Amino acid sequence: MRPCILLSSSLILLLLLLLSCSVNSEDPYRFFTWKVTYGDIYPLGVKQQGILINGQFPGPHIDAVTNDNLVISVYNYLKEPFLISWNGLQHRRNSWQDGVSGTNCPILPGRNFTYNIQVKDQIGSFFYFPSLGMHKAAGAFGAIRIWSRPKIPVPFPPPAGDYYILAGDWFKLDHHRLRRLLENGHNLPSPDGLLINGRGWNGNTFTVDQGKTYRFRISNVGLTTSINFRIQGHKLKLVEVEGSHTVQNTYSSLDIHLGQSYSVLVTADQPPKDYYIVVSTRFTRRVLTTTSVLHYSNSHTGVSGPVPGGPTTDIASSVLQARTIRWNLTASGPRPNPQGSYHYGMIKPSRTIMLANSAPYINGKQRFAVNSVSYVQPDTPLKLADYFNIGGVFWVGSMPANPNGGNGYLQTAVMGANFHEYVEIVFQNWEDSVQSWHIDGYSFFVVGFGSGQWTANSRGSYNLRDTVARCTTQVYPKSWTAIYMALDNVGMWNIRSENWARQYLGQQFYLRVFTSSGSWRDEYPVPKNALLCGRATGRRTRPF
Ligand SMILES: *[C@@H]1O[C@H](CO)[C@@H](O)[C@H](O)[C@H]1NC(C)=O
Ligand SMILES: *[C@@H]1O[C@H](CO)[C@@H](O)[C@H](O)[C@H]1NC(C)=O
Repeated sequence: MRPCILLSSSLILLLLLLLSCSVNSEDPYRFFTWKVTYGDIYPLGVKQQGILINGQFPGPHIDAVTNDNLVISVYNYLKEPFLISWNGLQHRRNSWQDGVSGTNCPILPGRNFTYNIQVKDQIGSFFYFPSLGMHKAAGAFGAIRIWSRPKIPVPFPPPAGDYYILAGDWFKLDHHRLRRLLENGHNLPSPDGLLINGRGWNGNTFTVDQGKTYRFRISNVGLTTSINFRIQGHKLKLVEVEGSHTVQNTYSSLDIHLGQSYSVLVTADQPPKDYYIVVSTRFTRRVLTTTSVLHYSNSHTGVSGPVPGGPTTDIASSVLQARTIRWNLTASGPRPNPQGSYHYGMIKPSRTIMLANSAPYINGKQRFAVNSVSYVQPDTPLKLADYFNIGGVFWVGSMPANPNGGNGYLQTAVMGANFHEYVEIVFQNWEDSVQSWHIDGYSFFVVGFGSGQWTANSRGSYNLRDTVARCTTQVYPKSWTAIYMALDNVGMWNIRSENWARQYLGQQFYLRVFTSSGSWRDEYPVPKNALLCGRATGRRTRPF
């Protein structure tokens, strides 16, 4: 019996290989096996329960080239359900791989799931993170770098090194306690510190050779606060934002809001010594700061001088900086043609969606909402309910496309939209805090930032020529941010606050981008390894 099984499984493997070779010979496969466990970590000097991937905190980074196929097998050795999601990966036609509670059943304790992800037509700097149960407060996040294909020009010379920096706020309370706080209807307390690549008090060292230029990819993987990034005595030349090559302005410091990623070039053009790499909280009353070290390989002197200060509560400078971040129209993106050949500003949106965040109390508990709707998770992932036509899980239209000023209420909110629509979305923020919004499955054009109430006249201030396409945007206090987005990716896509307390307590919903074509050209069917749960338990996924 055994040799026969072996033979047939290796035959299937061979067939699969042949199939994939004949279909997509140029798109390589990369295989990952990740074991997710608890483990003791000491990022702020005290012992905490962390969530590790293959024993690492942060998790291993992923390197891929445009169009690569990533096969990532995740084994859950935790005592709680687990999922990983991918900030910025678009999963074209394939929201099945998105790894959020509306698209995937959780990987139960002791079980595994294999993600099949193609990084189709993507370049740039992103990260992955655990999407359930406040796990993000315990680790299991890591960097994703998608490199250009060899023949596609990159608008700067190859750097001497490529470093990633996962920075963000951190709590000494473990994720179970943070989750309990939220579920009892409280907001999170102020964070206890900031981490750079998993370290707070005993920072990392990044070594550089004098005279050479290095790429730093910085992501804000924190839970609640915007950060500012800077390097003592050095300029930051911005080159990439979430997959867009930018006009290469230099900055002395950069604001990075929750969930955002930036690439800068740093030239080691100073006298040989060690310099502070600094991250500090932005828009917080108490400013938290942490440092790492930029070490010149020929340096014999440790870091010295005061840690350079940065902007703190000032909003205006952040808005000004945001407006200087622009697309390099002549540079290539993931394809050889200039990224600016897509004239996003010449296309007329077919409709405007306005999304207003709020912080209502519902049944005596703190919640967060969009257009008064505070999202509640259904018993069955929306994507599965949709695919198998399971009624009663959600209805399209349960998410209003405009604020109505009503009281907050709980709802499994799904907004409908048609494939190939071109939409304008206005994020309207009447609260006092900076918001950070992320859209899964998409890259959108941030056409404008403005203060007060958005009106049709606000369109006069839009940048319709060279703003960047990205997946996460900030909205300043008592202000609006407007984006244009081409709905070219069918699926069930999470739109959420990147503030983790806010998304956990309801500031999120799903956009169902739909076509009736039923064609695999537009959307893949349910994967044969899909986990099934809730009212989808026992349904048949497609036969091999
Ligand atoms: C992974 O999960 C599948 C079912 O989902 C199971 O058949 C397989 O044995 C699991 N593999 C391991 C190594 O646990
Ligand atoms: C834009 O990209 C082009 C092409 O790679 C490059 O030559 C040029 O220097 C870049 N311009 C700016 C302002 O960054």
